[in-house]
Amino acid sequence: MRKYIIAGNWKMFTLRDEAAALAHSLVPLVAGIENADVLLCPPFTGLDRMEKVLEGTGIFLGAQNMYHEDEGAYTGEISPAMLKDLGVSHVIVGHSERRQYFNESGSFLNLKVKAAVEAGLIPILCVGETLEERESGATESVIAGQLEDGLEGVEIARGEDLVLAYEPIWAIGTGKTASPEQAQEVHAFIRAKLTQAFGADLAGTIRIQYGGSVKPDNAAELMGQPDIDGALVGGASLNAESFAAIVRSV
Ligand code: 13P
Repeated sequence: MRKYIIAGNWKMFTLRDEAAALAHSLVPLVAGIENADVLLCPPFTGLDRMEKVLEGTGIFLGAQNMYHEDEGAYTGEISPAMLKDLGVSHVIVGHSERRQYFNESGSFLNLKVKAAVEAGLIPILCVGETLEERESGATESVIAGQLEDGLEGVEIARGEDLVLAYEPIWAIGTGKTASPEQAQEVHAFIRAKLTQAFGADLAGTIRIQYGGSVKPDNAAELMGQPDIDGALVGGASLNAESFAAIVRSV
């Protein structure tokens, strides 16, 4: 039985006070939820304050990115150890916005996944196709390539040490959600690829989130699908009531 994992990706939104206030209002709204891990990923600048707000709540703290080296002359970058020092447990790797706007390649993301696992952080590796790729029938080959690149040589002891997120690019911030059937089809494909890479036992316990216009009114149906184990929520996670409603829908 996989436990759901619902994450809020706040992207480049919230100043420190706003981040702390949003977390404060969320805490009571998701208290007592036992069948889902809840994770908040504010911008780097919000992590320090958020660690204090979330202390003792059971809500996990995540980062949206990191660099793969432990330390060094890498101006502007943040290391796995720095994230751990801030109480971070999870890190989003390879969000489509990083692939698209910052040219992060599959082999570069592979270094990040490995570094996260080695440091004891749980990477959330994001994969997803563009509308053009979907319409030309390339969805599976695109996802397969992203998985092969991102997971090359990655070793995990437990399925819980890795999370995947399927985020069709055409559904991000557009209000167009993949239908539960469309999402399930890709999730089942990802599960099959994970089985090839890690074996059935591990693959059966790796959680695969769906992301792309998840809202309170579509969350339950999406997460009712057999291979959808949670959500990576953008826009709706910036509103405490909406995000809590999504968490409560499982
Ligand atoms: P939206 O929920 O705003 O579509 O964003 C999805 C996303 O990119 C989460 O990482």
